[in-house]
Amino acid sequence: MPGAIHAEGLVKTFGDVRALDGVDLDVPEGTVLGLLGPNGAGKTTTVRVLTTLLRPDSGKAVVAGIDVLKHPNEVRRAIGLSGQFAAVDEYLTGRENLHMVGQLYQMSGRAAKARAVELLDRFHLADAADRPAKTYSGGMRRRLDLAAALVVSPPVMFMDEPTTGLDPRNRQQLWDVIQELVAGGTTVLLTTQYLEEADHLAHDICVVDHGKVIARGTADQLKVRTGGERVEVVVHRPEQIEPARAVLTGFGKGEVAVETHTRKLTVPVTGGAKLLAEVIRELDSRGVGIDDIGLRRPTLDDVFISLTGHAAERDEEGGPESGAPGRGRRDGRRDGGSGGPRDDRDADRDADRKEGVA
Ligand SMILES: Nc1ncnc2c1ncn2[C@@H]1O[C@H](COP(=O)(O)OP(=O)(O)O)[C@@H](O)[C@H]1O
Ligand SMILES: [Mg+2]
Repeated sequence: MPGAIHAEGLVKTFGDVRALDGVDLDVPEGTVLGLLGPNGAGKTTTVRVLTTLLRPDSGKAVVAGIDVLKHPNEVRRAIGLSGQFAAVDEYLTGRENLHMVGQLYQMSGRAAKARAVELLDRFHLADAADRPAKTYSGGMRRRLDLAAALVVSPPVMFMDEPTTGLDPRNRQQLWDVIQELVAGGTTVLLTTQYLEEADHLAHDICVVDHGKVIARGTADQLKVRTGGERVEVVVHRPEQIEPARAVLTGFGKGEVAVETHTRKLTVPVTGGAKLLAEVIRELDSRGVGIDDIGLRRPTLDDVFISLTGHAAERDEEGGPESGAPGRGRRDGRRDGGSGGPRDDRDADRDADRKEGVA
């Protein structure tokens, strides 16, 4: 059976920018696909094509069993979309926004009202229900946006960076909602720059860069591909770094990485817990004081670095809704152009700053 989302060879160019360079995707029904990639990788463009908002130059896509290029209107009826570009009417209140979506989908007035109340409650917007959306903080807008996408329970949901700029509590709430949806049978394609988000929510992950899928698999499979375990040691005193390095070199399967200011040494190993015990004994016999030691599997951060050649940077600044884990960011954009989804998000983050106290 074909998946709920199927894409083959999607290509989309903007001038000389190849935003999509042959993207293939398959998302089985009732699962979450995490589309992971740095800024400018092509995530939003993929979502826009799959949600009928943008025609690809070539390729094909089928969503909920419907051909996206041939029957866009039918596809629209089968999907929900929330994200960087989704439309919340600024001048309507939260309640009115949800009510309006219900009417668009031809729900009865009563059903639409009841659904609005339910969703406002679920997304912790009940207190702000009767204020115009333009007074909402960025985080509140995101919640309203997602609520709007859920007025009718669509079988396939697209979420473009649903939690970017949210604080950890709001992020956790959204994760819970997404998991509930999936438990109820909804298929979700979500884009994210938060590696832990993909790790937490996604059954499968596609890593995209420069408009291409450069790796796919479960989080675990990607981690395994990146390499095995590492021993990580924090020594007690700076002068113990060198003797510890000598010990780890003897046990390791690769180079010992040293972070001087934290007195941390890391080395790839095979041999697991048994080896760890031997390392501890050896360090001990050489009088190296250990503050911390452990075996660590590669994280998705390690995967990301090894695949894309750069880290998902931590983004320290942010509005009152922020204080969140970092979002990956590529240095500069290939096209150097303006406009596009990135700017929407920045506007959103600005709104966070200005209105987060609301
Ligand atoms: N409407 C557009 N006009 C011109 N370039 C665009 C447009 N939309 C996206 N791009 C470019 O296509 C590339 C992929 O963008 P996008 O899909 O938004 O990436 P992501 O969502 O992964 O950050 C980027 O180089 C971006 O600048
Ligand atoms: Mg984007």
